[in-house]
Amino acid sequence: MSSSPVSKRSKEWFETPELYGWLRRAAFKAEGFDEPSYEGKPIIGICNTWSELTHCNSHLRDLAESVKIGVWQAGGFPMEFPVMSLGEYNMKPTTMLYRNLLSMDVEESITANPIDGVVLLGGCDKTTPALLMGAASADIPSILVTGGPQLKGNWKGEELGSCTDCRRYEVELRAGTITEDDWAELQSCIVRSNGHCMTMGTASTMATIGEALGMALPGNAAIPAVDSRRKQMAEAAGRQIVALSQTDLKPSKLMTQSAFENAIRCVHAIGGSTNAIIHLIAIAGRVGINLPLELFDELSKTTPFLLNLKPSGQYLMEDFYYAGGVPALMNRISHLLDLSNVTVTGKTLGENISGQQAHLPDVIRTVDDPLDPEGGLAVLYGNLAPTGAIIKPTAASPDLMVHTGRAVVFNDHDDLYARIDDPDLDVTPDDVLVMKNGGPIGAPGMPEWGFLPIPKKILATGVRDMVRISDARMSGTAFGTVVVHASPESANGGPLSAVEDGDQITLDVPNRRLSLDISESEMDARIKSNYENGPEFQRGFKWLHARHITQADKGCDFDFLRSEALQ
Ligand code: FES
Repeated sequence: MSSSPVSKRSKEWFETPELYGWLRRAAFKAEGFDEPSYEGKPIIGICNTWSELTHCNSHLRDLAESVKIGVWQAGGFPMEFPVMSLGEYNMKPTTMLYRNLLSMDVEESITANPIDGVVLLGGCDKTTPALLMGAASADIPSILVTGGPQLKGNWKGEELGSCTDCRRYEVELRAGTITEDDWAELQSCIVRSNGHCMTMGTASTMATIGEALGMALPGNAAIPAVDSRRKQMAEAAGRQIVALSQTDLKPSKLMTQSAFENAIRCVHAIGGSTNAIIHLIAIAGRVGINLPLELFDELSKTTPFLLNLKPSGQYLMEDFYYAGGVPALMNRISHLLDLSNVTVTGKTLGENISGQQAHLPDVIRTVDDPLDPEGGLAVLYGNLAPTGAIIKPTAASPDLMVHTGRAVVFNDHDDLYARIDDPDLDVTPDDVLVMKNGGPIGAPGMPEWGFLPIPKKILATGVRDMVRISDARMSGTAFGTVVVHASPESANGGPLSAVEDGDQITLDVPNRRLSLDISESEMDARIKSNYENGPEFQRGFKWLHARHITQADKGCDFDFLRSEALQ
């Protein structure tokens, strides 16, 4: 460890003359822990997003046991505690509505308790960023351990990824090329084990980011959930947090500007999820670092896309693990990274990844033979997105990267699903599908509605992609020529609210443009007449959310949770 020892935070709770110092010892005794269990030892919190309602995290109680073994081995005292769990499949309208709430739960659970260091257990999409946001705000030594990706799916010999192939086969079901029986069989073949989605979706992207930021042990991201080495990783994290808790290597010391730039480079090199942009901005905002969208685009232009995983490529997380995982990937782009950043190992990033070789050349490509010379995400601007919109060119159709088409507009998600398969819908493959009111305020919570379905009558012609635009998000496992995060959102007076059926829209990814062919005065007049407020809430968390949520280009954090330095 490169940092000097610090005194234990937990002492304040126990070395106090007031009754509560005595009571806290009595409380530990009530759980069977006498003084020798914890006296003089760092108390290590294990912050667990386990839930049976979150299938991706349903094995995290087991993993917590491995962390505890490591903590005991290293001379610490482990205490597991639950925080809210956010499961993508079950939560309505979207887990994103609750990411900031979980981050508050994490921050307050850590700061209110006698904890000297914490291991963060997450996995499903929003749990990892929320843990990192909360830990950044609490700012005590922390290590992220993710639950790992699921095993590969397989149907009739074809390897399948959740949920890229769920989406692909749902399209085929709607197109009539597979049967209801096939669809039922697929349900048992795609999600084969515990763990998070095993494509390079949001969960895998955020796990990669955890390593790139220096907040997870090297190799953490890609070990499959049910591989015995996942438990070994958790045990190692338990040992390491004991050492880390005795230093001042807090999240604010590790998550520096250059650590975030390393993480952005990695997102581009892996063809990561569009959601990563929102989460990285939010995490950085907690430690007083501003990440403008322009930075993401600038680094995209100089970072090669190397990782051949679905939805942008061919393979799955299990293959990434066998190919060497994040350390090998980072080693491939080491010339683009700041290798001097200190990490939770107490060593620099450069020391962590030195000598890490890639083993499967088609999974992790070389810089000389990339899947694309540029990164996986692009930021668009124009009169339809004055403060930015995002597209994932690596998962889009090359022939639609420059496209002008007629707008077919849906007022909201309900309107979309009521009319998209109407045989009388006036739509052609060259049109641009637009959905309004899917943003942070309008939906609310910015659900993953941006992967707008292709109308059935277009599918019937064999077409599988169209330009689609919204102020919603898209699942990291989704694909297609899908523009998301158009900001400001329509329910915040954004220009998406001005679009009407028949307008001409131009998408120009090489020149990073997204524009609506109407005059400025016409735009202003239409926004005034078309714009609708988001839903009204009279009480509770949604009331708080509606008043304090920021737009996508600010990370959709609550304004009062961002660092004071950015207020
Ligand atoms: Fe949890 Fe995909 S549903 S990561």
